[in-house]
Amino acid sequence: MNHQLLQGKKGIIFGALDEQSIAWKVAEQCAAEGAQIVLTNAPVAMRFGKIQELGEKINAPVIPADATKTEDLENLINQATEHFGSSLDFVLHSIGMSLNMRKKRDYTDLNYEWMHKTLDISAISFHRLMQSLWKLDAMNEWGSIVALSYIAAQRVFPDYNEMAEAKALLESFARSFGYHFGKRNKVRVNTVSQSPTITTAGSGVKGFDDFYNYAAKMSPLGNASAEDCARFCAVLFSDYTRMVSMQNLYHDGGFSSMGVSPEVLQ
Ligand SMILES: NC(=O)c1ccc[n+]([C@@H]2O[C@H](COP(=O)([O-])OP(=O)(O)OC[C@H]3O[C@@H](n4cnc5c(N)ncnc54)[C@H](O)[C@@H]3O)[C@@H](O)[C@H]2O)c1
Repeated sequence: MNHQLLQGKKGIIFGALDEQSIAWKVAEQCAAEGAQIVLTNAPVAMRFGKIQELGEKINAPVIPADATKTEDLENLINQATEHFGSSLDFVLHSIGMSLNMRKKRDYTDLNYEWMHKTLDISAISFHRLMQSLWKLDAMNEWGSIVALSYIAAQRVFPDYNEMAEAKALLESFARSFGYHFGKRNKVRVNTVSQSPTITTAGSGVKGFDDFYNYAAKMSPLGNASAEDCARFCAVLFSDYTRMVSMQNLYHDGGFSSMGVSPEVLQ
């Protein structure tokens, strides 16, 4: 499915690790819609992931950047704008990692050094990215910036651990920076709150299969897939959503409005 929605648009996509990654699907969809893309991921992901394969497939340069390092982000933005010969129309932040979750620490027994790192990687990196784009004046007017979130920012999912706070912070950065970017550049900033999705980051959550199945039963449309998310992101990067800003947009098959469903009571 493609409608050349992004013809002539140029953007950076963070977070494509392998073909399951949501960012991978977004990159493929945006390329099919006519966009030119620069791909990026943490230097370590270059070694373990398959991002180069995607780069070749969609003819996108791959520029490593650790999203917790300002100098990496500035270098990436400068190289990308040089490559395009212009500023950017869209940016996708698709980055998440919890050290306490990875090391199986309970929410009531968290290591705070790890928590700092989690917040730095999963949320502050979004502010850092936007601040770098802002200072380098790298966004075109009517550009669009999107980060991926999860409903644990609003409701309690005990196994989501400290990532709940990381997502709450991420969503707040979208609102606060969305104000400044809107005023100065007519750039919009939103978060997309996605259904549970089978990816490396997703499957790292304890009991993932159970709450993936639970969410599918609760949602009248079922869980939104990574491909569905990619199509939604493409629309958010297109000129059809110019006045949508500072929102957390649920992309979850209806899950967020449900109280209970007959399927979960069976
Ligand atoms: N999978 C789900 O169930 C789900 C649901 C809702 C939201 N999300 C969010 O979607 C986003 C993408 O996750 P995914 O599910 O596609 O998993 P993924 O594991 O494929 O993607 C996570 C990415 O973050 C990157 N990353 C980690 N540390 C980094 C750093 N320091 N600098 C730059 N990049 C770094 C990883 O290399 C990886 O590419 C995340 O924000 C995640 O929280 C996922």
